[in-house]
Amino acid sequence: MSRRSNQPAHRTIWSWRRWIAAGEQDLWIARLQAADCGTWTLTERPGRIRMLLAVYAEGRHEAVSLQRLWGGQVRQIRESEWIDARPTPPTRIGTRLEIIHEPAPKRDRPLRPRLLIPHGMAFGSGDHATTHMLLRALSSWDRWQETRALDVGTGSGVLALTARLFGASRIVATDFDADAIRTARQNEALNFSTPIIQWKQADVKRLRAGERYDLVLANLFSGILCEAAPQLAGCVAPGGQLWLSGVLRTQADEVAAAYLRQGLHHKGTLRRGKWVMLQWSKGHATS
Ligand SMILES: C[S@@+](CC[C@H](N)C(=O)[O-])C[C@H]1O[C@@H](n2cnc3c(N)ncnc32)[C@H](O)[C@@H]1O
Repeated sequence: MSRRSNQPAHRTIWSWRRWIAAGEQDLWIARLQAADCGTWTLTERPGRIRMLLAVYAEGRHEAVSLQRLWGGQVRQIRESEWIDARPTPPTRIGTRLEIIHEPAPKRDRPLRPRLLIPHGMAFGSGDHATTHMLLRALSSWDRWQETRALDVGTGSGVLALTARLFGASRIVATDFDADAIRTARQNEALNFSTPIIQWKQADVKRLRAGERYDLVLANLFSGILCEAAPQLAGCVAPGGQLWLSGVLRTQADEVAAAYLRQGLHHKGTLRRGKWVMLQWSKGHATS
């Protein structure tokens, strides 16, 4: 998983990075969660035992604090460095969805519904296991016209844009990161001629139960999912569903317990590698 920029090259970003052993990734993900690190990448290289962990910091101060805590290196990087000239393959969900990362040639006729999501500042190109499971589930959802969808932790906007592509009647998407909201809004403009999605900068822990949604999507870390269980459960309309991703298999029981306490019903679990996606419903059963 890595991120690249589609922004003009003018900003300076600080990063903290270190090599970690492949078997230690769960431990490091838990550490990053505990330290409230929002934006990070873990890069695997074929044939290499170690993985490169990088955190994109709010400023030099945050990067230096991580270095004090865990060693590694602090680097100042220009956004232009994030640009990777190599074309990246599309993410395909069967015959139902294709996500491309570079604009397609003009005469290209897509064989399936398609979104353009350039690799950018925000997480969510579609190829990460946690996003992939949600995309798969979205592509099987069959009552879009009556679906009001909420995407919490929208990142690049990939899930909200998929809901729009499939025909959701109303879509609200939130993220606490201003860069993510800006990127997601730009991605809507790249794919659709008119803006429809309501993009909001908000922390999930401060979401108030106001409007209710038929489908609530949240690809966050387990710790945040547990903490924000009352808020997320509160956003689900009676008969609606809540899909939680970003959960490691080892953390699934803890997350499940938090949502059972909210009175939700467990509908199913999808698995991909070491990740799981948990599906919940509120009140009467929905398919
Ligand atoms: C793993 S990414 C998911 C992006 C996209 N929804 C996807 O499925 O690929 C998690 C996103 O949640 C956001 N996030 C993390 N903690 C949050 C919080 N407490 N409140 C709101 N957004 C949060 C991050 O900024 C990031 O964009």
